[in-house]
Amino acid sequence: MMTKIGLPVIAINFKTYPQATGERAVALATTCEKVAKEHAVSIVVAPQIPDLFRVAEAVDIPVFSQHMDAGDPGRFTGHVLGETLVENGVVGTLLNHSENRMLLADVDASVRKADDLGLYTIVCTNNPVVSVAAASIKPSAVAVEPPELIGSGISVSQAQPEIITDTVNMIRDVNKDVAILCGAGISTGTDVKAAIDLGSQGVLLASAVAKSDKPEDVLLGLIEPIIN
Ligand code: G3P
Repeated sequence: MMTKIGLPVIAINFKTYPQATGERAVALATTCEKVAKEHAVSIVVAPQIPDLFRVAEAVDIPVFSQHMDAGDPGRFTGHVLGETLVENGVVGTLLNHSENRMLLADVDASVRKADDLGLYTIVCTNNPVVSVAAASIKPSAVAVEPPELIGSGISVSQAQPEIITDTVNMIRDVNKDVAILCGAGISTGTDVKAAIDLGSQGVLLASAVAKSDKPEDVLLGLIEPIIN
């Protein structure tokens, strides 16, 4: 059965930040789970692949991989196998992140394979035109992230709002159903509100939460505009 994710969603990419690695990945995911449950908001976590099993065992919120390949079980050394993600409690995957780009044909193959396995797919893109290409592949979601703002602390929704509005308008011409997210520099509730006001259905972020000494406080700020 295809995984469904509540919208608006706050998706936290742990990247390879040391503060979100190993047992610290479990601690951060547990904080995300606490905030999600106490405030009835949709929060997704994407730890590093070697940490997926321990995180999925520890929390009851959606756990995503940061990548998945399209290969089948067998002769695919070093590939990230979808079947193994499922067996380890993973319910979705990021694809084509700016820090781990894929060929378009491979994005398509991974999305089709994820569909077969019931995994939710968030395809990352760098601009509105690439977002349209990604939406044509019919993933579960597209997340537009201008690379130059990633990790900058300068929010796409405040610094480049046209990236979001253009992405939403152009995607809706080709795909009415795909969820549209945005990311890069999202750090505060004000950034989240601006993103949602511009037509985004959620945000994908990393450093503001993963590098914080007080991730719960940051999360509470982020969700503020989406709780009643
Ligand atoms: O995947 C989310 C990401 O690329 C944005 O990173 O640190 O700007 O929130 P950050």
